[in-house]
Amino acid sequence: MSKPLRVLVTGAAGQIAYSLLYSIAKGDVFGPDRPISLVLLDIEAMMGVLKGVVMELIDCALPLLTEIIPTSDISMAFKDIDVGVLVGAMPRREGMERKDLLKANVKIFKQQGQALDQFAKKNVKVIVVGNPANTNAFICKKYAPSIPPQNFTCLTRLDQNRAQSQIAARVGVSCQDVKNVIIWGNHSSTQFPDVTHATLKGKPVLEVVKDDNWIKNEFISTVQTRGAAVIAARKLSSAMSAAKAICDHLKDWFHGTPDGQWVSMGITSDGSYGIEKGLIYSMPVKIGAGQEYTIVQGLSIDDFARSKMDATMKELIEERDAALQTCEA
Ligand code: NAI
Repeated sequence: MSKPLRVLVTGAAGQIAYSLLYSIAKGDVFGPDRPISLVLLDIEAMMGVLKGVVMELIDCALPLLTEIIPTSDISMAFKDIDVGVLVGAMPRREGMERKDLLKANVKIFKQQGQALDQFAKKNVKVIVVGNPANTNAFICKKYAPSIPPQNFTCLTRLDQNRAQSQIAARVGVSCQDVKNVIIWGNHSSTQFPDVTHATLKGKPVLEVVKDDNWIKNEFISTVQTRGAAVIAARKLSSAMSAAKAICDHLKDWFHGTPDGQWVSMGITSDGSYGIEKGLIYSMPVKIGAGQEYTIVQGLSIDDFARSKMDATMKELIEERDAALQTCEA
């Protein structure tokens, strides 16, 4: 058996982590031959709850789980990690403005970026989940200059999965028949779920659905506002589906995407498709067996797509500038 992969999950006492930890520790993400050393970070006040989570992980009797390290000490948490799953963040409270949430959370991600820089392995792979996910990933990357920028990503796979399932339900097929849906931009209500290049059983989705009005209106807005709809119904934000999406994202990053298929991840823009360089923007990527990804190039962008892609970029630029102001204050 190979050396254990050291995987940090932050926000480990929270609800996403509760759905996520079992899949990681069981081998569903990194493979059945990869032992896992699981580091669980949460704030001091949650250490009691985290103790219960650790007890349950032990009671799962998982052969691949060689070690569990619960901690509220950031330097211990980030030490020598191979993978950082950064879920922990302050939730939005009633009456709190988005910009107040951004201020509180970017400070957490500045500190965690510094910890990554100082303590993690230099080839660590990071996925940021805590919101605002793209901007938090941007800040994390900025404060970890010794780690390659391409190692910082944020989760938009949940949005991709939502979009794929909406199309599948509309046509009455399995979601696995729908391929190459793209999420462009921010993990927020300005994101652009794009099916222009998507296929359904090998045929263009647009030709099968044959309802441009539904695609441009109801479909896009359903995906954009799905998170809020889940909160309204459950009184809690998406957790099971977020955990599944984190697993999908990491599994593809570690094992690659099938030939001819791509997935969406929030990654550092290299200027492709006119997206400002350096922003963490969700784009379609293909991933090779060596864990390196490349942006899918040459996709046609019509005027409708351009305006949607620019609107979500504008929001990300505003978020980035506000975050930098907070960090540099
Ligand atoms: P939760 O509130 O149940 O859990 C968050 C946990 O993070 C809590 O245990 C809290 O104590 C911990 N935490 C707070 N500050 C921390 C810090 N500095 N270090 C370590 N841990 C810290 O929230 P839940 O439902 O698990 O969601 C977590 C985040 O994920 C939220 O920001 C949520 O908005 C975001 N999210 C992102 C999605 C995406 O697709 N990108 C989808 C769903 C949720």
